[in-house]
Amino acid sequence: MQTLAQVLSTQQLSASLTQVIHTLANSAKDISQAVRHGALAGVLGATEQENVQGETQKKLDIITNDMLKQALAIDSQVKALASEEEDEIVVLNSDGSYLVCFDPLDGSSNIDINSLVGTIFSVLPAPEGKADQQSFLQPGRDQVAAGYVLYGPSTMLALTTGQGVQLFTLDPNSQEFLLTNPAMSISPDTSEFAINMSNQRFWEAPMQSYISDLLLGTLGPRARNFNMRWIAAMVGDVHRVLCRGGIFTYPSDHKDPNKPFKLRLMYEANPMALLVEQAGGVASTGYEAILDIAPEHIHQRVAVILGSANEVNACLEYHGQHYDDQEPEC
Ligand code: F6P
Repeated sequence: MQTLAQVLSTQQLSASLTQVIHTLANSAKDISQAVRHGALAGVLGATEQENVQGETQKKLDIITNDMLKQALAIDSQVKALASEEEDEIVVLNSDGSYLVCFDPLDGSSNIDINSLVGTIFSVLPAPEGKADQQSFLQPGRDQVAAGYVLYGPSTMLALTTGQGVQLFTLDPNSQEFLLTNPAMSISPDTSEFAINMSNQRFWEAPMQSYISDLLLGTLGPRARNFNMRWIAAMVGDVHRVLCRGGIFTYPSDHKDPNKPFKLRLMYEANPMALLVEQAGGVASTGYEAILDIAPEHIHQRVAVILGSANEVNACLEYHGQHYDDQEPEC
C-alpha cells in the first residue's frame, strides 16, 4: 500500500504544501495517541474555560489545540493559524506560504462516551504581507488542501488537494498513513439522512417540509422509505456520507435567535464542502454553494446541507434554488 508521502509525491504539489500536510498528519498521529489513552491519561472531562463561541472547553479540546499549535509553529511554511478554540488568529512564521484553519477535536461532546471524534483542517494560501484576520477571509474555493482525521476504531485521514479525495488508514505498527481508498466517491442517490431531529420545530419552512416528506416515506411524494443516522460529530457523519452516500444537514433554526447557525464556516463547513465536492457531492447553505461564501469573520457560522448530489439538489428545490453547476474547481 502507498504511504501518504508516496501519494503526495504523485500529486506534484509544491514542497512547501507537502511539508504542511505532513505536519498536520504527524500532529494527528500524536492526537490519536492522546485520544486513545483517554481516562488512563486523565484527559477526559470538561475544563472551567469557555471558547470564543461560549462553549465549555473539554480538556482534550485544549490539549489537542495546543498540540496542533506547537506543531504548526515550528513549520516554517505556516504563516498563521486560526482555530475554533482560539479567540484570535495566531501569527507564526513571517516567511510562511500558508494559513491553516482547524477544529482540533470536532464532536468533543463524544469524548466522554468514547465515541467518534476527529480533527478537521483547511489550508489556504497566505497573502503577501503581515498575516491578520483579513488574510483568512478567503472563500473556500481558495483552499489548497483540506481534510479530516477520524479517531474511531481505526484512525483515518481523508485528504483532498483538489485531485479527488484519498482515504488513508493509520497503521498502528508502522505509524504510517497508508492509502486504503484512492478515490472516494459519493453515490448521487441515497435513502439515508442525518439531522438533529430534536430541533425540528425551530427549522425554517423549506427544511420542515423536506424532512416531513422524507419521513412520509412510501406514503409521501418521495415514494420510498428513508433511514436516519446522527453521530453528533460532523466528522463522523461526513465520513459516513463519503463512504456510502447520504445527506447531512445542520440547517438554520430559531432556537436561539442570536445563534441561527451551528457549524463554523472556516473550521468545519469549508473543508468538508471541498471534500464533498471533490468526491462528486454537493455542499450548500440552501441558498448558495458553501465554497462560494465570502467569509466576514473567522468564527462565522453557516447552515450546511451536503452529500449525495441528487438528494442535496432535491433538498435545494425546497429552498427554491437548484445548483446545476457543481463541478469541482481546484
Ligand atoms: O460543531 C460541533 C458539532 O459537534 C458537530 O460536529 C456536530 O455535527 C454538531 O455539533 C452536533 O450538534 P448537536 O449537539 O446539536 O447534535
